[in-house]
Amino acid sequence: MTGLTLPDRPTPPEEADDVWLHCIDCGEQHLPFEEVLFTCPDCDGLLEVRYAEYPTFDEFDGDERVWRYSAALPFESGVSLPEGGTQLHEVPRLETDIGVRNLRVKHEGMNPTGSFKDRGMTVGVRVARELNVDRLACASTGNPSAALAAYGARAGLETLVLLPEGNVAAGKIAQASLHGARILEVDGNFDDCLDRVQDLANRGEAYLLNSLNPYRLEGQKTIGLEILERFRDEEGRFPDRIVLPVGNAGNTAALYKCFRELVHSGALAPGDVPKLTGVQAEGAAPMVEAIEEGREDTRRWTDVETIATAIRIGNPVNAPKALPGIRETGGTAVAVSDAEITDAQRDLAGEGIGVEPASAASVAGLRKLVARGEVSTGEDVVCLTTGHLLKDPDAAAAAGNEPEGVPNDTDDILRHLAGQSVGGGLLGRLRRLF
Ligand code: F0G
Repeated sequence: MTGLTLPDRPTPPEEADDVWLHCIDCGEQHLPFEEVLFTCPDCDGLLEVRYAEYPTFDEFDGDERVWRYSAALPFESGVSLPEGGTQLHEVPRLETDIGVRNLRVKHEGMNPTGSFKDRGMTVGVRVARELNVDRLACASTGNPSAALAAYGARAGLETLVLLPEGNVAAGKIAQASLHGARILEVDGNFDDCLDRVQDLANRGEAYLLNSLNPYRLEGQKTIGLEILERFRDEEGRFPDRIVLPVGNAGNTAALYKCFRELVHSGALAPGDVPKLTGVQAEGAAPMVEAIEEGREDTRRWTDVETIATAIRIGNPVNAPKALPGIRETGGTAVAVSDAEITDAQRDLAGEGIGVEPASAASVAGLRKLVARGEVSTGEDVVCLTTGHLLKDPDAAAAAGNEPEGVPNDTDDILRHLAGQSVGGGLLGRLRRLF
């Protein structure tokens, strides 16, 4: 693996200290906290946070989870619950069943609001404070709204979330609602919600905290830093591949940036960079299409459908940042069916790891790639599971065992467990009477 595009030699704009914004399209540099910027004011390209120095692993210390990595972030600390420090589980049965040398699952569902979005929000809300904004907003298939509502509440800021009507899992709405966000249900899909929230942000009505916001991705880089540090401590080497579900491709872009910065500082050899492997649902797979067709950007899919509502996204805004990451690390992208996602959700649950459907896409995708021979059986792989099972209780109940009705009687329960019929009927009622 040698094709990694390094950040340009740091050339801060005049007056910038050690952090600034860089447009990935036109290369223009911008001061970070003078005005509120989401995209490049010159060409509307995506912005990326750049630093004068990039840290090595020795510079990370403390156990403040995400903020352990403050040397790689724009601030020393943030509005924290705290987030990060999630488990890197061994999954021996799944590892043997799928057939790779080493399989670990990084369960991001164990963050404070149950998804990786907390890592981005702790940094994003810190920046919002720096900019003195008073209203935060995001479009969401659910998880960012839950995270933003919690972090907004923690910071004492007003929070607005725009959700696609009827297409958000119950747990996520409940979170946004109880944490006090104003919930606007839009008659449209996620991509429409993102268009609306961008309009609101451009009119100065709200500070946008979708992954279009470059600071969100800074927080999400810490997923990569944790994986590399932990895997190396346990195995003495870095993993060959990281497999993750892809919606807006924010995490893919964040991991790619994490690797580039480590290569830049000399902490990671170019040959040790894990292959970024994205998984989408078949009904919402513009990134997979772009990889397969060798396109520079994605085509917008207007009709998207999948059980994995968190990644029911047809216009991944971070594609220009993420596609080079998949290509340059030697990774790939694959689409999986809803049935494959549900099977993988059951497989993970069978190892004690409860995830929402989108999360299980990573494991479903890995299984498919190994079966096709595109991932070798000698690889060390980390699958990212992005959200907790309780986010989508309906999907979990549909994928799991049916509850069994039994009489309020221990002998009947034992008979039922032994496979004898006791539930209803005359016999059951007579038994209970005598
Ligand atoms: N998994 C879960 C559980 C998610 O909520 C999301 C994103 C993803 C994966 C995809 O991550 O966008 O970085 O590629 N959900 C957003 C949302 C877009 O609104 O909930 P990505």
